[in-house]
Amino acid sequence: SRVVKLAVIPGDGIGPEVVAEAEKVLDAVIEGAEVTFEKTRFSLGAARYLETGDTLTDEDLAAIAAHDAVLLGAVGGMPGDPRLKDANIERGLLLKLRFALDHYVNLRPSVLYPGASGPLAEPGEIDFVVVREGTEGPYVGNGGSIRTGTPHEIANETSVNTAFGVERVVRFAFAQAQKRRRKLTLVHKTNVLVHAGGMWKRIVDEVAAEHPDVAVDYLHVDAATIFLVTNPGRFDVIVTDNLFGDILTDLAGAVTGGIGLAASGNINPDGAFPSMFEPVHGSAPDIAGQQIADPTAAILSVALLLDHLGLQGEAERVTRAAREDIESRDGTARTTAQVGDAITARLRA
Ligand code: NAD
Ligand code: IPM
Ligand code: MN
Repeated sequence: SRVVKLAVIPGDGIGPEVVAEAEKVLDAVIEGAEVTFEKTRFSLGAARYLETGDTLTDEDLAAIAAHDAVLLGAVGGMPGDPRLKDANIERGLLLKLRFALDHYVNLRPSVLYPGASGPLAEPGEIDFVVVREGTEGPYVGNGGSIRTGTPHEIANETSVNTAFGVERVVRFAFAQAQKRRRKLTLVHKTNVLVHAGGMWKRIVDEVAAEHPDVAVDYLHVDAATIFLVTNPGRFDVIVTDNLFGDILTDLAGAVTGGIGLAASGNINPDGAFPSMFEPVHGSAPDIAGQQIADPTAAILSVALLLDHLGLQGEAERVTRAAREDIESRDGTARTTAQVGDAITARLRA
């Protein structure tokens, strides 16, 4: 039978707590299926750095790249921890993985499940997906500082946007729209960021001409935050750059029942490298170690992982079990493990 080699990176803070539940669900859903998962655990993150001084060695990277997929919890230590100042776990580990494994699509679905308690009085139906560019924008590290630490410091962080990089993610977004409600919204800030924004707009218009069945519109990112709160039902597929996508998807998570439910996939659609699945949230040092984190985002990330691997039946079963669990919530406090157990029990039922 088929063997999937899965790299597991529990990471820091609540990462290991939510990944434990995600693994429970994964193990349960593939029981009796024609597939087995061969897991390798990688100890990476702030804890590993503090122990060994390593962030992500070439050996780690090569070993991870040799897997079929990656499941990650969250990385990052306590903000402001002076011992981590030189490490920059986020850039040196998480972004290094996304860049090295060419995760040019950061896929972040937002669904308001029945029973999920969001902050909106009348949310209506919410079901959209943000296709966030994953390898460019202000994230690439094309910057620097001179006169550092002086009153005359100049600190630059240049947003890198290539026609190649934008076209490939825009094409992916149109393909998503065609499988969904055929509506695509470009979000940018073309009124100010005229160079990058102008290129994004041109490329969307060009690719749109090949997809006459997809309705295309455009919003400036500031206005997009308004509509995400006042009329989120208007969105089907949002395509946007790396930084705007980061910000919009935390907001999208909040309006669909909380960041504890928001799943994501860092996808290399070409299949040249393993794709990586992780909750949208971070290591949440404020609640780490207390067994109060919601593991649902990590569990729904397993559903995205299964779907990516072509295991649609298993993916749907995980989504359904999570959805039923969300619908059954009545405000009673449960531990992280109790939520994982409840979702696992629904799978087995
Ligand atoms: P965060 O997402 O970790 O936390 C924001 C808030 O949401 C906190 O109040 C937290 O308690 C809450 N929260 C997050 N996940 C939750 C869950 N599953 N259940 C219940 N509540 C949850 O963001 P932050 O505080 O800005 O960042 C903390 C650290 O995580 C930083 O070091 C940051 O760089 C890192 N980070 C990592 C990732 C990642 O690994 N993918 C993503 C975001 C942030
Ligand atoms: C996320 C996180 C990361 C990002 C950070 C930790 C680098 O916020 O996955 O959303 O900005 O992409
Ligand atoms: Mn983020």
